[in-house]
Amino acid sequence: MSAAVKAGMADYFASNSDVKYILFGGKGGLGKTTLSAATAYWLASRGKRVCVFSTDPQASLSDIFERKIFGQGEVELAANLYAVEIDADRRIAEYQEEIRKKIKDMYKMETIPEEVEDYINSSAAEPAMAESATFDAMVELMTAGKFEYYVFDMMPHGHAIRFLGMADILDQWVEKIVTVRKKAGEYGEAATVIGSKGSLAQEDLVLKELEYIRGRLDFVSTMVRDRKHTAFFYVLIPELMPILDTRKALEMFREFNVTVSGVVMNQVYPRELKDQPDVPVFLKNKISSQQEYVQQIQSEFGSLIRGIVPMLDREPKGLKMISKVADILYGS
Ligand SMILES: Nc1ncnc2c1ncn2[C@@H]1O[C@H](COP(=O)(O)OP(=O)(O)OP(=O)(O)O)[C@@H](O)[C@H]1O
Ligand SMILES: [Mg+2]
Repeated sequence: MSAAVKAGMADYFASNSDVKYILFGGKGGLGKTTLSAATAYWLASRGKRVCVFSTDPQASLSDIFERKIFGQGEVELAANLYAVEIDADRRIAEYQEEIRKKIKDMYKMETIPEEVEDYINSSAAEPAMAESATFDAMVELMTAGKFEYYVFDMMPHGHAIRFLGMADILDQWVEKIVTVRKKAGEYGEAATVIGSKGSLAQEDLVLKELEYIRGRLDFVSTMVRDRKHTAFFYVLIPELMPILDTRKALEMFREFNVTVSGVVMNQVYPRELKDQPDVPVFLKNKISSQQEYVQQIQSEFGSLIRGIVPMLDREPKGLKMISKVADILYGS
């Protein structure tokens, strides 16, 4: 028995016409960016205005489309097809500068106190900052509303799930700081003394920043859970680790109330190759091993499988190759 797709990607879009946001998740290096690009290409070729966005700190859409996209804003690649790849470091630096300016204005300071400056500088190293900058850019893009479809090439699985938990943790944190802040207010004089040393100013800053980050996270986590407007596809290949990763991810998504719209199996060696006489044993063994995992994926994820993309004889790069992947995934 060979793997089969009950309802494919095109069927999905045909029966979910309200979907606007499309997310591709999965373990590193299996094809998220490639399939995001192919999906954006397919939608654009059907006359839809699409933006594909990379949330990965590593520039990758630039590689796949063979164009300079990183840090360039919305880059037009073809009719209706746009791509954005944010420079998170630059956004963090701009954000820090904004905070400095706000503090100076708010507290009528000429220079930022050293301890506050230290705090601002150290915050840039937080992984949460890079994520926050990414979500900032995502939210900005979505709220600007210039496109009919937004395809988000998500960061590898671990990070993507982490932010769902982060929203809850931040809620509790903000709550705690507000309580402490109120208590400090009750001790009027003592608060003034602390305030003059800059601690309350710093606290205000932390609180503002947390609330800002929380707002972004809430927006994204609401979007991710919105079944009507959001599609979430998970990419895997027929190997053991990706299967285990997918199993775990699906469990976690269930826990976080995220519905997975489908699974795409990528990089599958054509089974027919195995029966050709001139194919080396090495490759035959690889194909046999893959086929066992293909069966396993079939029985474990069954009707969730929405696409099967073969291992191509070269890396799909450039519009022409991406259109080929789109044809495979969506049917030409
Ligand atoms: N079907 C395929 N056939 C051949 N090569 C492929 C196929 N799909 C993806 N590749 C190649 O595999 C590599 C990984 O793909 P891609 O960059 O899309 O994965 P990713 O999940 O985005 O990775 P990362 O987690 O590093 O961002 C790339 O070099 C890509 O060109
Ligand atoms: Mg990628």
